[in-house]
Amino acid sequence: TILDVVLDKELNFESFGVCEGTVSCSTCHVVFSEDVYSKLEEPLMDEMDMLDLACGLTETSRLGCQVY
Ligand code: FES
Repeated sequence: TILDVVLDKELNFESFGVCEGTVSCSTCHVVFSEDVYSKLEEPLMDEMDMLDLACGLTETSRLGCQVY
């Protein structure tokens, strides 16, 4: 996942992925271009519910811990 990449590469995005991928925080919110977004798998209900709480939600928002 994108969260795995951030952790593996030790990228310093403050507070990114606080819940460590348990789909309970939305701090891994990522906004994709429409082109990339259209190629992703559909989000599951858990992700949709948590995305509703994300700051700055857009039509192409996803949770980085759920995108492979
Ligand atoms: Fe918490 Fe993705 S890391 S929802």
